[in-house]
Amino acid sequence: MLKVAVLAGGGGTNLQAIIDAHKAGKLPDTELSFVLSNKPDAYALVRARDYGIEQVVVDSASFSRAQFEEKLMDEIEKRQPDLIVLAGLMIMIPKELCRKYKNRIINIHPSLIPSFCGKGFYGLKVHEAALKKGVKVTGATVHFVDEIYDNGPIIIQKAVEVKDGDTPEILQRRVMEEAEWKILPEAIRLIACGSVSVLDGVVKIQN
Ligand code: GRF
Repeated sequence: MLKVAVLAGGGGTNLQAIIDAHKAGKLPDTELSFVLSNKPDAYALVRARDYGIEQVVVDSASFSRAQFEEKLMDEIEKRQPDLIVLAGLMIMIPKELCRKYKNRIINIHPSLIPSFCGKGFYGLKVHEAALKKGVKVTGATVHFVDEIYDNGPIIIQKAVEVKDGDTPEILQRRVMEEAEWKILPEAIRLIACGSVSVLDGVVKIQN
């Protein structure tokens, strides 16, 4: 059984996609163990509560960065997840966590990495940049997390068409619906069934 922690700081639609997949029996051998948020008012926490998942808050606004990192590490270490899923956590996780959980932390990013990623590319900014560049295709990426923003081995990517008249908001929604909400649960499923391995920084998937 893969014990999964989801770290989310926002609306939690990606968390919901994971919950829905779990509810539908599409994530066998997976336990949704706890949801941790750095924001006490994150709607992701409500989604977790409604599905009976433990909710943990480490309020980043109430602590210094050093205290926040220590508390976050404590809460995670106490519960010993097998996999940590970053789903809209808008704050950098401790480098120590990246090292301790190497190839056991995954992130969803709303572009086709290596485009429109790295420091400063989050939320609507990603889609604004894609529209400004005039790309005709964008998408989403699930990747393992290392100490550099949006840099670790890529697990799954899915392309999404950019359409005439798209605004950042419209494009964000299409990327979520057509890509993010599909590939994040799928990546968890593949990891839970032992199909994902990393060799020389490159992911291999055996079906
Ligand atoms: C998503 O666009 C995700 O790709 C990014 O943050 C956003 C989170 O949205 N990392 P939600 O909280 O899952 O609705």
